[in-house]
Amino acid sequence: MANNEEHFKNVISHSKEYGFIFPSSEIYDGLSAVYDYAQNGVELKKNIRDYWWKSMVQMHENIVGIDAAIFMHPTTWKASGHVDAFNDPLIDNKDSKKRYRADVLIEDHMAKIEAKADKEVEKAAKRFGETFDEKMFRQTNPRVLEYLNKIEEIETRFRKALEANDLTEVRQIILDCEIVCPVSGSRNWTEVRQFNLMFSTAMGSVSEDANLIYLRPETAQGIFVNFLNVQKSGRMKIPFGIAQTGKAFRNEIVARQFIFRMREFEQMEMQFFIRPGTEMDWYAYWKATRLKWHHAMGLPANKYRFHDHIKLAHYANAACDIEFEFPFGFKELEGIHSRTDFDLKQHEQFSGKKLQYFDPELNQSYVPYVLETSIGLDRMFLAILSHAYTEEKLPDDSTRVVLNLPPFLAPIKVAVFPLMSKDGLPEKATEIFNMLRFDHMCMMEEKDNIGKRYRRQDAIGTPFCITVDPQTLEDNTVTIRYRDTMLQERVPIAQLNAIIDEKVSMKKALVAASGNATGQPA
Ligand code: GAP
Repeated sequence: MANNEEHFKNVISHSKEYGFIFPSSEIYDGLSAVYDYAQNGVELKKNIRDYWWKSMVQMHENIVGIDAAIFMHPTTWKASGHVDAFNDPLIDNKDSKKRYRADVLIEDHMAKIEAKADKEVEKAAKRFGETFDEKMFRQTNPRVLEYLNKIEEIETRFRKALEANDLTEVRQIILDCEIVCPVSGSRNWTEVRQFNLMFSTAMGSVSEDANLIYLRPETAQGIFVNFLNVQKSGRMKIPFGIAQTGKAFRNEIVARQFIFRMREFEQMEMQFFIRPGTEMDWYAYWKATRLKWHHAMGLPANKYRFHDHIKLAHYANAACDIEFEFPFGFKELEGIHSRTDFDLKQHEQFSGKKLQYFDPELNQSYVPYVLETSIGLDRMFLAILSHAYTEEKLPDDSTRVVLNLPPFLAPIKVAVFPLMSKDGLPEKATEIFNMLRFDHMCMMEEKDNIGKRYRRQDAIGTPFCITVDPQTLEDNTVTIRYRDTMLQERVPIAQLNAIIDEKVSMKKALVAASGNATGQPA
């Protein structure tokens, strides 16, 4: 089994070789942190999006979808706080001319100190064997304590500096910690500056008339500004939700780890409008519901964990991330935020329009509270792909690369092979292909021997391969081969649809994910 770093590298090269993801504009050497989805990637991505959409919109009678424009009135972003506060603190190294996020430099430094403490624990564990009491050791060993105290000291200082927006102090922490530039190795740092993450462009053809507009950094605001339109036109009653999937753009400075952090990415967000005071029940409901959605894809439960936010954004009264164990460690995959009435009130203030709901049960109007679930589609894609990628040793000592994708997410569900390109087999295979393609993404392959064709389909995660041979012409049976077990069996063509439908249907996942599909708090 490859180590995590190697595994991740293999996933990236596999993505390109088998048509999942290409670097953007590769013939011009690519564009940093921008990627294109290729022929198989686009299908997998669409299936994940469909699964999210169906479980949100189709399975909740009180959630509807919209598709708002990427461009929005520029005041939207004043109201949301993005113009003033959607910043990263940046610092440049004067020798390497490389730019870094100051917070990431400090966090990486703390992680290094933590690794030193862990090393001490590891050494002691080896020395003491079974009698080792890790908890006691961490609490009493002077060297470990020194490391942990150091981390706490930096953390406290850093948090205070960020809260006070004191960038001089942030720089001083970098200097005091003797953090060096990973490229030049020097401590020759510039001042720390705030850098807004929004991309902007101009609307209108004459620059004097041009209006500065932004590419949306989140899809959520398209939902907030349409809250009343949807509520009124759909005669929605609180509690109700609005769901949306679409592109978002952020000028990320530290853009690494393949499609984990991109400058153009896709979000799947849902804003759930509720009565003030009920938000903690709904927060618990959506935490549980979203985790169920993830588990229903068959990804192991131990690859997920919640990370509760201790320091809350000024508009939130509860927030957490659902983290996934990517090949480079546990990282944020989805956010669940109780956003109070902050966004709607801001839009009321900036637009001068009332964004209130008349609650007939209470006989009063109020600005609803909002519970948000927000997941990155590309991150979900990476989680699924990196988990599915498997190098499997076979009994004959050969290795096969297989994507163990949940069948309902696989880009191609069925591949149809004529055993030979003669004797009427391609024609019969085409007939079967034409029958199945009404229900499933299928493909035909005639080139190479059957073994090679199987391997190619394993590599893109196709759950079923069907081979048409001379016997098919006599008795209308084919061989069906299963991706996971590699077992083959002879079945009548008439049974193919039923066999395939049962395995590739999204229904099982939707049932498992829905749990309480009425949209009421558990
Ligand atoms: N409306 C709330 C919001 O946008 P966020 O935590 O900034 O919250 C939500 O983003 C999700 O979007 C994240 O959990 C992550 O999955 C995804 N995401 C954010 N920035 C991303 C990026 N640069 N590249 C890929 N996905 C990203």
